[in-house]
Amino acid sequence: MLVSPDAPAPFIRLQGVSKVYRGRGQDFLAVSDATFDVAPGSLVSLVGPSGCGKSTLLKILAGLHGHDDGQVTIGSPQHPFDPGRDVGMVFQAPLLLKWRRILENVLLPAEILGLPMAAARERARALLAMVGLAGFEDKYPYELSGGMQQRASIARALVHDPKLLLMDEPFGALDALTRDRMNIELLRIWQESGKTIIFVTHGVQEAVLLGTQVVVLTAGPARMADHFNVDLPHPRRLALRNDPKFGEYTQRIYHLLGLD
Ligand SMILES: Nc1ncnc2c1ncn2[C@@H]1O[C@H](COP(=O)(O)OP(=O)(O)O)[C@@H](O)[C@H]1O
Ligand SMILES: [Mg+2]
Repeated sequence: MLVSPDAPAPFIRLQGVSKVYRGRGQDFLAVSDATFDVAPGSLVSLVGPSGCGKSTLLKILAGLHGHDDGQVTIGSPQHPFDPGRDVGMVFQAPLLLKWRRILENVLLPAEILGLPMAAARERARALLAMVGLAGFEDKYPYELSGGMQQRASIARALVHDPKLLLMDEPFGALDALTRDRMNIELLRIWQESGKTIIFVTHGVQEAVLLGTQVVVLTAGPARMADHFNVDLPHPRRLALRNDPKFGEYTQRIYHLLGLD
């Protein structure tokens, strides 16, 4: 199921990846034997309860963390991957600099990477339009709602045109209706941008609604419990949650999490 013979080469391949946090006298296994492939352009949901190692796995993919066992391969010799340039990250909090206008916030990664600024400005404006913030370029973060700030942080994560977008519970702090709206917006942004996205959530419905694939992690002890493709059509709408097949996928996850 994961790799058919005519499938494109995976963009990311994890094989038996484990990570141990070493404490004084006590080691803690945070990720154990994570094995899955990510096809280019897919949107992979990493779902599981708090503490199951989702953020740790994301940090490994971002090149922020080493790992103790197994192999992580991103890109290929023909298309080498540089985590410093090729990753965009979105966190639960928008983390905008409050003294900078929205456009200047979006430009930050381009400044840090020393990219040509005239082109970056144009790209930042286009990205703000894509995330629905045209006209808000010169506002300060406090003038935007939480959902709008999170849109700005998505634009910022894309400004340097990364190959991989890593999102760590990006909508976890939003109210339920804003989160619903952002889910649909993210699907549109994903389709328009063509990016490969790894999306971390503890929301089972969100994982299935968004994912082309779902990876289920469980804690105590850390384990990768399942990995499957979500065979539901695009473009997806919220009403898809009423589809019996959608219910089968969420039930499969609840079962793995011991919640059925
Ligand atoms: N720097 C660290 N040192 C020691 N333990 C850590 C560290 N970071 C995370 N952990 C532990 O590893 C486990 C997985 O953490 P994390 O990847 O943040 O989980 P999640 O994002 O799924 O909530 C948790 O039990 C957490 O307490
Ligand atoms: Mg986390």
